[in-house]
Amino acid sequence: MASSGTKQIQHKQRSMWWLFRHFRFVFLASTMEFFTANGQCRAEVNIQGMTLKRSVFKRWSLAAPHLCDVKCGQEITCQSYNYNRKYQICELNNRSKEARPENFLSAPAWSLAAPHLCDVKCGQEITCQSNNYNRKYKICELNNCTKEARPENFLSAPAWFYIRRLKGRPPLGSIPELPALSCHEIKASDGKHTISGKYWLDPTRKGKAKLIYCNMVNEVWISSSVDASLKLL
Ligand SMILES: *[C@@H]1O[C@H](CO)[C@@H](O)[C@H](O)[C@H]1NC(C)=O
Ligand SMILES: *[C@@H]1O[C@H](CO)[C@@H](O)[C@H](O)[C@H]1NC(C)=O
Repeated sequence: MASSGTKQIQHKQRSMWWLFRHFRFVFLASTMEFFTANGQCRAEVNIQGMTLKRSVFKRWSLAAPHLCDVKCGQEITCQSYNYNRKYQICELNNRSKEARPENFLSAPAWSLAAPHLCDVKCGQEITCQSNNYNRKYKICELNNCTKEARPENFLSAPAWFYIRRLKGRPPLGSIPELPALSCHEIKASDGKHTISGKYWLDPTRKGKAKLIYCNMVNEVWISSSVDASLKLL
């Protein structure tokens, strides 16, 4: 008797687990719809085949993209992330593609056994300026190949995607931990409705954020403490 009761409980637990495993994405999807509908948070979409370069501040090997989403949510300075489905790499960015459009590039990459093979690949691509070789994952990535320049590479890119942080993303320059380089960068990152006011800036990249007034109409700052020449940034 007792053992059949235990069995029943085990069966119940197993079916709950089955439900969770099969329907968690439905739950996740409906959460996203809620954020879209409520209008305050815009819907963010995965952009396939692309990554944001030069803003990565943390990188992990994580088995699924939703774990990367969780990591991003735990870091106050995370603005967006890149995830590679094939190699299961999660990269957190401290900028969005809107702030740094020049660093938003297609990620043609190959799994190659040695770094010199990566040099060979780069030599074969007219738009390749340099390459990165990751020894741990044995990935060869070519830099400065735009999607437009080499659409055929876009197809061969492994499954990288880029997405802006879904929830709780602090606007660039709104906290001292995430200073912007310029008023222009803030407006680019957060849209044309960004209001004039005080923001955290670190124009000299010295790691010292200062609260400075940005006039968002003409995207210049007004501060006696900052060298006037820096206003051109
Ligand atoms: C953002 O990430 C870049 C690239 O890793 C790094 O050089 C920079 O110091 C970071 N900025 C902040 C404010 O964390
Ligand atoms: C690629 O590199 C060239 C030369 O270094 C530079 O002029 C161009 O702006 C770069 N393009 C991108 C998208 O980074």
